[in-house]
Amino acid sequence: MATGDEVDPGTTLGEVTGAGPVPHRVLAPVAGPVELLASTGNSDTVVARVAGADVRLVEEWPVRRPRPYRRRLDEVEPLHTGQRALDLLFPVTRGGSAAVPGGFGTGKTVLLQQLAKWCAADVIVYVGCGERGNELADVMADLFALTDPRTGGTLADRTVVIANTSNMPMMAREASVHTGMTVAEYFRDMGHHVVLIADSTSRWAEALREFGSRTGALPAEEGYPPELASALAAFYERAGAVETLGGRHGSVTVVGAVSPPGGDMTEPVTALTERFVRCRWTLDRELAYARHYPAGVLVRLVLPGRHRDRRPPHPPRRSRLGDPARPRGGVARRR
Ligand SMILES: Nc1ncnc2c1ncn2[C@@H]1O[C@H](COP(=O)(O)OP(=O)(O)OP(=O)(O)O)[C@@H](O)[C@H]1O
Ligand SMILES: [Mg+2]
Repeated sequence: MATGDEVDPGTTLGEVTGAGPVPHRVLAPVAGPVELLASTGNSDTVVARVAGADVRLVEEWPVRRPRPYRRRLDEVEPLHTGQRALDLLFPVTRGGSAAVPGGFGTGKTVLLQQLAKWCAADVIVYVGCGERGNELADVMADLFALTDPRTGGTLADRTVVIANTSNMPMMAREASVHTGMTVAEYFRDMGHHVVLIADSTSRWAEALREFGSRTGALPAEEGYPPELASALAAFYERAGAVETLGGRHGSVTVVGAVSPPGGDMTEPVTALTERFVRCRWTLDRELAYARHYPAGVLVRLVLPGRHRDRRPPHPPRRSRLGDPARPRGGVARRR
């Protein structure tokens, strides 16, 4: 890359050295000629200029708006979670989305922390949303203590932690999940495979309910605002494997905990989340209380694919004479 070259949006202008094991690429924001390329810089200085647009090492982006990409990829590549029970029985793809619903104390946080530590991703974004502060302190301590087997550095070098614990303001929960997603997309655009972990999306939904009730919104089921479904959908739909504007392949995989009160899987947040994710790892209270970990039970395994392809196939048509494998009348007789 040199001054005077024509670039497209997303073209790599340079790479930040000494930024840890994750290559941090500086991307062109617009198309046009490169007018300036600096060899050094920091977050305050202009490191490049493309068609009059200054490029800094800091980028501002409205967190609710998905970052652009060229196209979605259809390839199916498994994400190795590091948990054999999940990889073998309930796999998730790179760019997929998974939810971990489970009652109190069934092991959601423990499972998500294991994923944060050992899943095969280039970058992990861990959003602690409305949960206990000591759990976040634990995860931070572990990340700094554990060695990343792939790079030899610590796991903290590839992890972004967004701390928004239960004692912080309610509306910061809304900001935290979207900030996490935007940070994940930022690294995705550099061509990395990112896993976004949100613990717990139910706390965010509760913040939406609180905000709705204070602003006089019409309450829908269990007092949640009517736009809860679209808010959850907008969040989970930002997951995906994409070809970035610069032509690299990157992905954002989303794993969100859901804490249904009383373990009631029919409550709105759990039921709606199930509509938008492609993989559901339900943790069972009975198994957890019997100290059988991970307390996962297969409720429904959704194979990867696009959201609109998720309708179940039509049942096979029966002839009027009934199923030939069964006796006439369609009811199997017991011997
Ligand atoms: N895989 C596991 N192996 C051993 N113990 C576990 C495992 N998962 C959970 N536990 C035990 O269960 C306890 C509760 O787990 P955890 O905090 O993850 O539950 P949770 O579902 O996040 O609860 P909450 O809804 O209150 O956030 C842990 O402190 C640990 O003792
Ligand atoms: Mg928890």
